[in-house]
Amino acid sequence: MAVVALYRSTIGKKVIMAVTGFIWVGYVVLHMFGNLKYFVGATSINGWAEFLRTFGQDILGYSGFLWVVRLVLVSAVLLHILMAYQLTQLDWASRPVRYSGRNYLSATFSSRTMRWGGVFILLFLVYHILHMTVGNIHPNYEELKPYHNLVVAFRDPIQVVFYVAAMIVLGLHLYHGVWSMLQTLGVNSFPRNATLHRVAQAIAILVPLGFISLPLAILLGIGVRP
Ligand code: HEM
Repeated sequence: MAVVALYRSTIGKKVIMAVTGFIWVGYVVLHMFGNLKYFVGATSINGWAEFLRTFGQDILGYSGFLWVVRLVLVSAVLLHILMAYQLTQLDWASRPVRYSGRNYLSATFSSRTMRWGGVFILLFLVYHILHMTVGNIHPNYEELKPYHNLVVAFRDPIQVVFYVAAMIVLGLHLYHGVWSMLQTLGVNSFPRNATLHRVAQAIAILVPLGFISLPLAILLGIGVRP
């Protein structure tokens, strides 16, 4: 079958990585904009959390849409990891003798950190969901009150440092990831290359900056209302 043949081929695996990565890029961009509602106020960001649960509820029931999104995200991340693992194995098998000195000339810092960066982001994600969605490792979690949950969490400078570090790693992963994704999907061709490079750069810088603005603002007391 064509799908199985594609899955077995190296290019097929890269396409799966690119498509699942694209799903997550879309999610982080929307999530970052959703978070910026913090600056509008508690009603705005809490209303967004409520909206995500009531959207389409006539058809899918309360939180039904959110569960569909969660299912897509979990499937995408699992496939992304599986493909990363298989491509790494193929890469290592193609040169069984390790280079004595690595040639980093054509590799950027961001491309060299993809594997460990990916593992770190995965660990961050598990921590983050327990922290902000399940709430069991949050000091004072309240259901459907992201404003309160964020303000309480980011009073702690250690949490802020951890989240900022995770967003820097995310930025590096996004930079190389978005660029590779565009190449795999064949979007790059000579005249558009420079523009697409800038798109990858803009996403890799603006998304982490948007995310980081929130914990930093809370730590500095900006936008915090009783
Ligand atoms: C400073 C950075 C971040 C902050 C402050 C933040 C904040 C939040 C908050 C408040 C929630 C709960 C929302 C709700 O209950 O409706 C949440 C959920 C979530 N966040 Fe983040 N987030 C950040 C970064 C990220 C990143 C980088 C990712 C992905 C790589 C991510 C993925 C998720 C996921 C998957 C959920 C669970 C959504 C659900 O299933 O309900 N977050 N985040």
